[in-house]
Amino acid sequence: MKKLVVCNQKMLLARDEAKLLRKALDDVDLSKINFIVCPSYINLDVFKGYNLGAQDAFYEDKGTFTGEISAYQLSLLNVKFVIIGHSERRMFDNEKVINAKVKAVLRNSMTPILCVGETKTDKSLRRTSEVIKRQLETALSGVVLDDTQEIIIAYEPVWAIGSGKCMQKEDIEDTILYIKKILSMLEISNYKIIYGGSITPKTIENIRNELVDGYLIGNSSVFLDDLNMIIKCIK
Ligand code: 13P
Repeated sequence: MKKLVVCNQKMLLARDEAKLLRKALDDVDLSKINFIVCPSYINLDVFKGYNLGAQDAFYEDKGTFTGEISAYQLSLLNVKFVIIGHSERRMFDNEKVINAKVKAVLRNSMTPILCVGETKTDKSLRRTSEVIKRQLETALSGVVLDDTQEIIIAYEPVWAIGSGKCMQKEDIEDTILYIKKILSMLEISNYKIIYGGSITPKTIENIRNELVDGYLIGNSSVFLDDLNMIIKCIK
């Protein structure tokens, strides 16, 4: 199976920069991976033709919600994936909202990329398993997937994001196995698990792992040379 490579462009690119990246990306051989790009909302059209993901989505389809963009609206723009519960958004969303967003994404025939992961404090208090279990149970409460639906779980330790600090391969494997166990308890079988957090050309060699179905890349995803090196290493 081809590895997933999900590029979370965060709020890193102005429109002109996104256009330049798109042009350069068109020359990269992506045939051996399953490539998904998640630009800012305003840059979604710049990456037309690629597998498109959004970085968040509101749970109501339509209504008087100033400043929000719904899963329904995104589905009309050919968006196929939506990141939900990213640690950079969890400060605005409680777990009930994250659950509603996962359901809204599925209801609108898209695939949620649900982010879970422990903070530095959780890690130091050895609470990683407890935190991940709670995040999965609450976000997936009442979620029943039919045969056509899938969910992508992105394991992103919060302390690893943007820190240059990389998780040990063995620790990633342990957590992935744990996530699989929880998903099985929740009777969810249509899923992929990807890993994210400080994936760079330097760290990918150590992180690369047969247990994961792919990778979620932040900062390095907007630098073409870095992204290219990471992709070469993955495939
Ligand atoms: P970095 O790759 O910049 O650490 O970001 C990871 C991330 O948050 C992807 O969603």
